[in-house]
Amino acid sequence: MVQIDKISLPDFPLLLAPMEDVSDPPFRAICKENGADLMYTEFISSEGLIRDAINCRRKLDIFEYERPVGIQIFGGDEDSLAMASKIVEVTNPDLLDINFGCPVKKVAGAGAGAGVLKDIDLMVRLTAACVKATNLPVTVKTRLGWDEDSKNIEEVAERLQDVGIKALAIHGRTRSQMYKGEADWTLIGKVKNNPRIKIPIFGNGDIDSPQKALEYKNRYGVDGVMIGRAAIGYPWIFREIKHFVQTGEVLPGPTVAERVAVCKQHLHGAIKWQNQRVGINEMRGRYANYLKGLPNIKEFKSRLVRLNEVEEVEEVLDEIFRTYQGFEIEHTPIELIDYHQNCPL
Ligand SMILES: Cc1cc2nc3c(=O)[nH]c(=O)nc-3n(C[C@H](O)[C@H](O)[C@H](O)COP(=O)(O)O)c2cc1C
Repeated sequence: MVQIDKISLPDFPLLLAPMEDVSDPPFRAICKENGADLMYTEFISSEGLIRDAINCRRKLDIFEYERPVGIQIFGGDEDSLAMASKIVEVTNPDLLDINFGCPVKKVAGAGAGAGVLKDIDLMVRLTAACVKATNLPVTVKTRLGWDEDSKNIEEVAERLQDVGIKALAIHGRTRSQMYKGEADWTLIGKVKNNPRIKIPIFGNGDIDSPQKALEYKNRYGVDGVMIGRAAIGYPWIFREIKHFVQTGEVLPGPTVAERVAVCKQHLHGAIKWQNQRVGINEMRGRYANYLKGLPNIKEFKSRLVRLNEVEEVEEVLDEIFRTYQGFEIEHTPIELIDYHQNCPL
């Protein structure tokens, strides 16, 4: 078992990474059903929470069935982070996670997210402020360092443990790397194998198959892995990893029926969580991911994104099912898209 304060997770837990505009309640529900052991909300600005808690409210929505679940916040000011930690407590998550990893300019450039990696003393003060302000277990998610010449994660891990964090998730890239190149897990392994480190260490970056998850578990000794991009449109990654780790067998991929069912489940979840208009709108960007690999699916996809009524969407999904029923999608590697490549921020 892996223990984060009072939260007990199974051996080698699989974590769904916090992802802006992706890891919302409807998506989390699907990942949970497929075996995610710990999930997080997308990151929430501490300043935003304080100024405009009502508008951030949706991001704070968590539901009983998804526990254990963490709320992730970011910020670069001690008082704001402390106040935000208190606000978050009201919604009763299982843990509070601080983001010290976001590389985008509007966050890192403003001295929050990965920006804090430039100043470990500040990072320690910000973390200590949160730990002091809340009764929730506090965890941190960060990167290896700011750039190639300042990979300070080993010092960061020790010092954050010393001020009371209960777990650390490390993305094996620096801020300068953004999402380029391959994640380097060597330092993640070093942190995990440092005898001074007692808290769980979760590795993150580029896990896209059961084989890789098991290989990295064995090679780097991490307590668990956190999965982001590979879960987008492919929540089955969790059950596939679980099964492989337990049995050594590779599960067949999801059937067309399952893919269509998940589209419907996600659609209904999104409508229930928000409303019909928003739910249908938000789903438009998601069908393509779930239906990847089906030949000539383009025409169906372009129909799906033009519809405004649930029944119409369901009809097209049923048509997809009828058209492709029994079709076996080739088990190709999951593509790890650089979602931030064209990010103007
Ligand atoms: C669309 C998208 C949104 C993200 N939003 C967040 C976020 O809100 N908080 C965070 O800590 N990391 C965020 N990340 C980073 C992921 O949590 C993760 O660290 C990164 O994608 C590397 O893991 P992966 O290779 O498994 O995707 C985001 C990543 C993506 C692709």
